[in-house]
Amino acid sequence: MAVKSTTDKYGTVAIIIHWLSALLILVLIGSGFRASGMEDPVAKAAILQVHLPVGISILLLTLARIGWWFWADKKPAPVDMTLWQEWASRLVHVLFYVVILSMAASGIGMMVLSGAGPIIFGGSPETLPDFWDFLPRTPHGIGARVMVALLAAHVGAAFYHHFIKKDGLIWRMWFGRKGEG
Ligand code: HEM
Ligand code: HEM
Repeated sequence: MAVKSTTDKYGTVAIIIHWLSALLILVLIGSGFRASGMEDPVAKAAILQVHLPVGISILLLTLARIGWWFWADKKPAPVDMTLWQEWASRLVHVLFYVVILSMAASGIGMMVLSGAGPIIFGGSPETLPDFWDFLPRTPHGIGARVMVALLAAHVGAAFYHHFIKKDGLIWRMWFGRKGEG
């Protein structure tokens, strides 16, 4: 199995980054919505103790992913599909990168402006600020919903290929030789 992608399959590095990113994003969406729905600052700070480091990790992983595609690897050729489907898939993939980077930027922006980092990690969570007092909270909330919509479109497309078109597309993004050739 190749480290780099071939014309009909993603390579090991791209596959590991893809599924690790998917996992981290699910944790971020879950922990983010849970934190924002909480009244109790102590409980909210406990969740943000997970949300923040995972948010920074997805930022670093996404920068590494962009570098990997830019300098080291080339994406497989698109599978057989109509022109609008090919463009829709490209658009969703690019928007994923844009939204992840914007979420990380607005998240870091909230931390810088509110000074909440030391409060969250320093043991005085009862003084946690209201993040809505800071401008980046609005794009962070909008970005979260765009992310959920992109995920629904992306998973919907993957299921469509798997269960309706039955073209084996999912195996391009999985380990091993299945679907090759
Ligand atoms: C938030 C989570 C996810 C994100 C951000 C994401 C993002 C991406 C991106 C950007 C690509 C293009 C390849 C690349 O740039 O590395 C891709 C490809 C792919 N994703 Fe996801 N993905 C996520 C979750 C999922 C899930 C849950 C599934 C399956 C149910 C899935 C199935 C696929 C498949 C099959 C491809 C390959 C498409 C092709 O052959 O061209 N993804 N994904
Ligand atoms: C791709 C990365 C990220 C995703 C997907 C994400 C997701 C979310 C979601 C879904 C929410 C709830 C939004 C709402 O209810 O309107 C949220 C809130 C929040 N996120 Fe993130 N986040 C990310 C990165 C970050 C980073 C890097 C930081 C800080 C360094 C951060 C800090 C926060 C804070 C402080 C809140 C507000 C909680 C509140 O209002 O009580 N996030 N995030």
